[in-house]
Amino acid sequence: MSLKNVRLEVMKFLEKDVETLIEKYLIEPEKIWQPTDFLPNPDSDQFYNQIEEIRELSKELPYDFWVVLVGDMITEEALPTYESWLMDVEGVDQVNGQNGWSKWVRQWTAEENRHGDVLNKYLYLSGRVNMREIEVTTQHLIADGFDIGTDRDPYKNFVYTSFQELATYISHNRVAKIARKTGNKQLGKMCQIISGDEMRHHHAYSDFVDRIFKVDPSQMMMAFHYMMKQKITMPAHFLRESGDKIGTAFEEFSNTAQRIGVYTSKDYVDILQKLIDRWEIDKITNLDDEAEKARDYLMKLPSRMLRLADRIKIPENSYQFKWVNPAIVK
Ligand SMILES: [Fe+2]
Ligand SMILES: [Fe+2]
Repeated sequence: MSLKNVRLEVMKFLEKDVETLIEKYLIEPEKIWQPTDFLPNPDSDQFYNQIEEIRELSKELPYDFWVVLVGDMITEEALPTYESWLMDVEGVDQVNGQNGWSKWVRQWTAEENRHGDVLNKYLYLSGRVNMREIEVTTQHLIADGFDIGTDRDPYKNFVYTSFQELATYISHNRVAKIARKTGNKQLGKMCQIISGDEMRHHHAYSDFVDRIFKVDPSQMMMAFHYMMKQKITMPAHFLRESGDKIGTAFEEFSNTAQRIGVYTSKDYVDILQKLIDRWEIDKITNLDDEAEKARDYLMKLPSRMLRLADRIKIPENSYQFKWVNPAIVK
């Protein structure tokens, strides 16, 4: 059987449990938090006062913070790219009887959609950012799409999502901490609850990978190896500002996140180590020779990458983005 057909078989085999996994890892629309729970209520007499409070407290947050929050929000707003990508993965079928995997993708998307929504509304009310520039970037990013090097392979895609959900957990969680430190309690709660969703999603995708390791260990190992060898590309790697070429804003956005400690190259290595531990890579049995070599490579990778991460120097000064007006930010 070809590798592709084995993957289709495995996806079909796991599909019988997807319903249970949806129940375990996703939350129904009526039970989960909604953006409005963390934003001024337009129905209330207090609406204007609440906006005033947001705008006052916002002044306590530094320039780089806004860049990161904007970049995080834009990354979340490019959700159409992620949903369409996942719908196209082998074994996911939204046409023929809508299989369990397509149901998973849709319900995951529905949850994720709240992240960009709540952050967008908050930024709009904060008065600290240039919303039009942000909107142009978001539109560019969706139009530019992405290529995360996973092809249509479910194994590689689930490695990618396991990694990314944890990366977004870290960054939203750190943003929440900075917000709380400066007295922005409501923003802190908002980012904290988003990070909780990301952690739950991370557990789900890691569980999928765990299950694949049980039935197709060598090929799952090869897929993990492939993804880590080529490095995990961030979903917003094509980020650009108005008038610029594709991808030109990503590096400075990433530098900014490193500078304020929201997401660093050390975090990248920590995530890799967490995945190795979570999937108990050292204990996987029934591997063929090639997969044994891939395992060796993976086990040694974190310490190798850590040495490189130590050497990376981040520019000290903030990079001027069109998204954030320097005149209004301390
Ligand atoms: Fe998200
Ligand atoms: Fe997520």
